[in-house]
Amino acid sequence: MSDISAPKTLGNRRFHNVETSTYWLPNDESELDRLDEYHFTLKDFFEGNVLGPGKSLFEKPVKALDVGCGPGTWVLDMSTEYPKSDFTGVDLRDVTFPTKKASNSHFLVGNVLTGLPFPDNTFDFVQMRLLVAAIRVEEWPSAMKELMRVTKPGGLIQSIEIDLKVDENDKTGLVKAMCDACTSRGQDPRVAIRIKDLLTEAGAQVLHTERREVNLGGDDALATKFISVSKNSIHSMLPVLGPILNIDESEGLDKGLDRFCDRLRKSESRWYYSANLAQKPE
Ligand SMILES: C[S@@+](CC[C@H](N)C(=O)[O-])C[C@H]1O[C@@H](n2cnc3c(N)ncnc32)[C@H](O)[C@@H]1O
Repeated sequence: MSDISAPKTLGNRRFHNVETSTYWLPNDESELDRLDEYHFTLKDFFEGNVLGPGKSLFEKPVKALDVGCGPGTWVLDMSTEYPKSDFTGVDLRDVTFPTKKASNSHFLVGNVLTGLPFPDNTFDFVQMRLLVAAIRVEEWPSAMKELMRVTKPGGLIQSIEIDLKVDENDKTGLVKAMCDACTSRGQDPRVAIRIKDLLTEAGAQVLHTERREVNLGGDDALATKFISVSKNSIHSMLPVLGPILNIDESEGLDKGLDRFCDRLRKSESRWYYSANLAQKPE
């Protein structure tokens, strides 16, 4: 692809170097591990890889796509769960793709902002998850149209996004810093709450919308998992947010991140998510 050149580094982390992209998180091994862990946490949180009303689609063999698949964990997990269906992951660079894959899983380089490498009406199910830090405000409508283009008539589109809503529990300044990193790149940190309208404007019929929040101060297993995801996410965001978050590294980065996460827990910080399932008209 013409807009892809050699990766760039910032600090000791590797990043995409794609002219058309404002994505500000790394794509190295440590990031892929974080996304792996995040996948299984979100799977628990949303009670599966597919939102409730979409589950019945997979009762028969289908073709599914994950846009911005990262390490491909959703694709691999789904290809194991549904061996008769066919799963494809697409991402900005092949550095993110798994080396071990099942015969019903495939990975391709592609950019949702410049056009996905698939003909019209190819997939029964298309997911795009956690792209808030990758797409500018004015790019969302065309990204949604691109998802619609590759979805078959009657097929489903699933979106799960984090809503970077700053609230009174954000005592650490983490969410505010993430918001600022997004807005300074022209991205909308609260696009999650606009996805329903964006899907409708792209011509899809929204079948299901839900909002979930997790309290990091909770004493349940899910809160513990989200604390671990938060720690690894802060680590990945350090090249961009480090100077703002001011993590105390006097006893090493790991301890500094643990202390920061303790503050998240004590202030009962929350993560908010919006999830949507929509159908392309027949
Ligand atoms: C935060 S990660 C989420 C990964 C995966 N969707 C998940 O939920 O675990 C965002 C991913 O989107 C990819 N990405 C960013 N901009 C993209 C674009 N314009 N087209 C395709 N993929 C993109 C990044 O390379 C990264 O792998």
